[in-house]
Amino acid sequence: MAITGASGAIYGKRLIEALKERGVEVHLIVSESARFVVEHELDDPRILEGMADRVYDPRNLSAPVTSGSFRVDGMVIVPASMKTVAAIASGYCENLVARAADVQLKERRPLIVVPRETPLNAIHLENMAKLSRRGVTILPAMPGFYHRPETIGDLVDFVVGKILDQLGLDHDLYRRWAEATGGA
Ligand SMILES: Cc1cc2nc3c(=O)[nH]c(=O)nc-3n(C[C@H](O)[C@H](O)[C@H](O)COP(=O)(O)O)c2cc1C
Repeated sequence: MAITGASGAIYGKRLIEALKERGVEVHLIVSESARFVVEHELDDPRILEGMADRVYDPRNLSAPVTSGSFRVDGMVIVPASMKTVAAIASGYCENLVARAADVQLKERRPLIVVPRETPLNAIHLENMAKLSRRGVTILPAMPGFYHRPETIGDLVDFVVGKILDQLGLDHDLYRRWAEATGGA
């Protein structure tokens, strides 16, 4: 998974926790811009590195994940900046995040992109539409409110729960609609 320089580093941190709680091996790339945002929004970026099984320098374009021969179940980019979305949409692999995502596409493996930007311009929308047409799951960091969130953690867990749904991992991070309404 990768954390890029969009606001919402907390989503990435929570996803690492949730994956580790479920016994998933997590390989992490934190982009250079993300390090700044993490420091601003959360904490020292090194805390994230200590949570993952393996951490790659975003400038390391010879890391194992640059090759399709390195087997992974999928990749999540959370949060995803519009710059990273543009890089993937244009196949411009200028750092390890874009290259690893490009490999997911060429190997036809799951790629989940969690964009965070508002408002969106037509270039952002076109890039996301292009990725969606290539099979990428665009899962915006847009929490719902039907589960009656009370804390920021509840909002974060809603989005992280949606990512786990896409990965086919069981969780109770948010109350599903049928649970929230008692199945009525
Ligand atoms: C505090 C802060 C918040 C940012 N939030 C966003 C954001 O929500 N979405 C976005 O697309 N870019 C955002 N940016 C801009 C990106 O960090 C910038 O485009 C950067 O080049 C992204 O590089 P990366 O995708 O390699 O991490 C933010 C920048 C800063 C400093």
